[in-house]
Amino acid sequence: MKPRVLVTRKISENPLNLLRERAEVHIHEEDRPMTAQEIMAALPQKVALLSMGGDPISAKILETGKDLKLVANYAVGFDNIDLAAATRLKIAVTNTPDVLTDTTADLTWALILGVARRVAEGDRFVRAGKWVGWKPGLLLGSDVHGKILGVIGMGRIGLAVAQRALGFNMKIFYADIQRTEQSIEERLQARFLPLPDLLRESDFITLHVPWIPETTHLIGPEELRQMKKSAFLINTSRGPVVDERALVEALKSRVIAGAGLDVFEQEPRVAPELLQMDNVLLLPHIGSATFETREKMAWVAVNNILAGLQGEIPPNILNPEIYK
Ligand code: GLV
Ligand code: GLV
Repeated sequence: MKPRVLVTRKISENPLNLLRERAEVHIHEEDRPMTAQEIMAALPQKVALLSMGGDPISAKILETGKDLKLVANYAVGFDNIDLAAATRLKIAVTNTPDVLTDTTADLTWALILGVARRVAEGDRFVRAGKWVGWKPGLLLGSDVHGKILGVIGMGRIGLAVAQRALGFNMKIFYADIQRTEQSIEERLQARFLPLPDLLRESDFITLHVPWIPETTHLIGPEELRQMKKSAFLINTSRGPVVDERALVEALKSRVIAGAGLDVFEQEPRVAPELLQMDNVLLLPHIGSATFETREKMAWVAVNNILAGLQGEIPPNILNPEIYK
């Protein structure tokens, strides 16, 4: 009998078909997330689970998977999975790094340019029939080129965002828990700064840290106050890295100039005040959402499962200690 695999949402056909050759695949076909109850009901006898970023894979869920050996998360972030519980239960957990790095960096730039140059606002203006002709003061924004980009978290995505900034002749500052390689600093002419200095100096501040307890509300009222009044905050990482209430207050009272957000504290809920503001650009968590990248993410997740089914250590293992 083929091993049984649960897939919580429909993914690209080709990788799914390969998985079907090697496993009995149970897929949730509806176009909505599975509830925790549904996952728990479907998990018995499944050897592997292909989960999405939004699926809450708690200790309780993992414990119902008596035969579960592997969870392949279709996302680079894995804050939706109780990794400690998985490790305790000797369940392998994998993610999809690398394949979505450039795609997410591209979207980060869409937000930087979009919020600085009021792209969505301009589009709304044209569609509303408000455009009566060219005028010198119409929809003035902020320059991006030549400004200072502050990158918080110089991991793969942070680095890809910074690389793109060179084409805009920007100066790059970054903050992280550790300093990056000297060769990278030299190539980017990037300066490692303590967070308060980065906040004070940067014109665009972009977040690329994972969401962990230490990064929860990394940007709160105090940090927002340290930013320039003319600065923009960009978030394509995870919503809870920013204190959304504090951000709303800062935007309302013009403590900062604007924000570009792809992620929110309680997705899909967005603070209603944000919906009323023209100086924020809001996207529905689409950082990695391209045809090319979503297919690659599916291949990576499937390959991790296939490796696990063959008794190999999956390539993108997050808890290798279970094999010791
Ligand atoms: C998406 O948010 C991801 O973590 O891949
Ligand atoms: C993870 O979030 C990364 O930077 O690749």
